[in-house]
Amino acid sequence: MRIRNTLCLCVFVLGLTLPVARGQAATELRDRQLDAQGWPSQAVRASHGMVATDEELGSGAGVEILKRGGNAVDGAVAVAFALAVVEPAAGNIGGGGFMLVRLAGGKTTFLDYREVAPGKATRDMYIGKDGKLDEEASVIGYRSIAVPGTVAGLALALKTYGSMKLADVMAPAIRLAENGFPVSKRLAEEFEAQRPALQRFAFSRRIFLNDGKMFQPGDTLRQPELAATLKRIARNGAAEFYSGETARAIVDDLSRLGGLITLEDLAKYQPKVREVLRAKYESSGHSWEVLTSPPPSSGGVAIIEALNMLQTVPLKGWDDVESVHMVAEVMRRVFADRAAYLADPDYSNVPVAGLTDPCYAKEVFTSIDPQRASSSKVIKAGNPHTCGVAASNASSPETLVSLGEGPHTTHFSVVDAAGNAVASTYTLNGSYGSHVTSSAGFLLNDEMDDFTTQPGVPNALFGLVQSEANAIAPGHRPLSSMTPTILLRDGKLSFVTGSPGGPGIISATLLSVLNWMRLEMEPQAAINAPRFHHQWVPDRIFMERAFPDSLETALNARGHATRRVGHIGLVNAIAIDPATGDRLGAADPRHDGAAVGY
Ligand code: DON
Repeated sequence: MRIRNTLCLCVFVLGLTLPVARGQAATELRDRQLDAQGWPSQAVRASHGMVATDEELGSGAGVEILKRGGNAVDGAVAVAFALAVVEPAAGNIGGGGFMLVRLAGGKTTFLDYREVAPGKATRDMYIGKDGKLDEEASVIGYRSIAVPGTVAGLALALKTYGSMKLADVMAPAIRLAENGFPVSKRLAEEFEAQRPALQRFAFSRRIFLNDGKMFQPGDTLRQPELAATLKRIARNGAAEFYSGETARAIVDDLSRLGGLITLEDLAKYQPKVREVLRAKYESSGHSWEVLTSPPPSSGGVAIIEALNMLQTVPLKGWDDVESVHMVAEVMRRVFADRAAYLADPDYSNVPVAGLTDPCYAKEVFTSIDPQRASSSKVIKAGNPHTCGVAASNASSPETLVSLGEGPHTTHFSVVDAAGNAVASTYTLNGSYGSHVTSSAGFLLNDEMDDFTTQPGVPNALFGLVQSEANAIAPGHRPLSSMTPTILLRDGKLSFVTGSPGGPGIISATLLSVLNWMRLEMEPQAAINAPRFHHQWVPDRIFMERAFPDSLETALNARGHATRRVGHIGLVNAIAIDPATGDRLGAADPRHDGAAVGY
């Protein structure tokens, strides 16, 4: 429990103490109206390209590349490397993620560069002789680290869809690592908050804690080891990370200290190209298509299943108890299915077609009482099947465990002047991942905790309910909630979205889609609107503090347990103005989100 409590300084809580809207560039803020919370009430408008990320320096790196003639994929790769420098909690080269690409001509692809379990990993590796789960081992330190996928994924994205050289798109990141950047108040606070875990690892202590002297806001953070590593990658490509000097540094560091990753694990790592999940809807007189993330993300399946169930539900807004109740009940059922059925599709037969079928959604929907909360003790995973095919009793869910909430990951969106679009979410899992920094200057993930670390017991970081199919096994990808998503309206690019937030990713992304597609909110309003989250277990609605007490009381009267939380998700989205084609960048003011366009 100790680990969960210290690490879950999660997105739910983080935002409470943060100054608002800091990430919006000063020039943008001068021109933009602020709402009652001091958040921008309008999106950033630009006619060519737009980048929305957690950090102004990250967005700036993307726009620099777009202005130099790069396309959205070039820009996205530049952003990802830059965030690895300026947002160490989540931006990374030592983690993994997903990238959803839609080219202006209509071609779509999904790049899965999720981490995999090392060859020496075993199903019960975190279970002690006493049969109890060692919660720390899957979250902090050498044994929590899975084989990173980010560098391979970014290199593949660039080679397949980019137009520039790796060295060119990595230039902003190299500059930021080498010359340094000013430590913000938020970053200084983060280092302080993470000090107990970071100081246990020599390179983390030296680089991020200034050798114990700590950074003050305005100090310059230079990362020479990281700059050198980025330069080697820029020169030698992804092979540098997986079989070059960087690979040897990772393995030397870890093998001495109980980590599992070998040179063979690194050499074998492969990103995967997967088919995009798609679903069609009619709303407000327009045809919509949702392009979203397939397994090993659980999010795309969940979002389509939820949108299917909500098709006939009249949504009025989030000050309307009926609307919140119905969406929360839908979330409850979607998360019950997630727990039972979702896992690495390369090793498990995930019933994607059934789960995303409108007939199945209709059937599950009948169990919702529009007036009263259901109980998660009664609501279990359904029996997914496609229209016209009877549900089989054979596929009933396997052993399940339970769920919580999560620290840090990062989502960014990019649209270029030609209309190519990228939605990408990548992560170290917990904030600062395993807290282990390699001698090559970058943090390593703690993604092993996204597996079912002990069937029947919640995993340490998110307390997640998951199935035996997501058990640890060499080469398997742990199940993810990351859900980069793109919406088309009448066949044209309309909305690029996604979020961090552990399981809250799914709810935050779903709400952003509902706000844009169903409730027709302005883009910034769609991001600012208060968020809520139900994850089946525990049986309660998590609600941001912006909801009025009267709404919470009305939900309680319907039988919902509720809990107020800081922030749910950090959605950095880009909408397209259907009238002008302008790009409307809506970064999340809950963090340091910054939309920068030109
Ligand atoms: O892939 C996943 O679902 C998690 N590793 C994401 C972790 C996360 O979003 C943490 N926080 N914001």
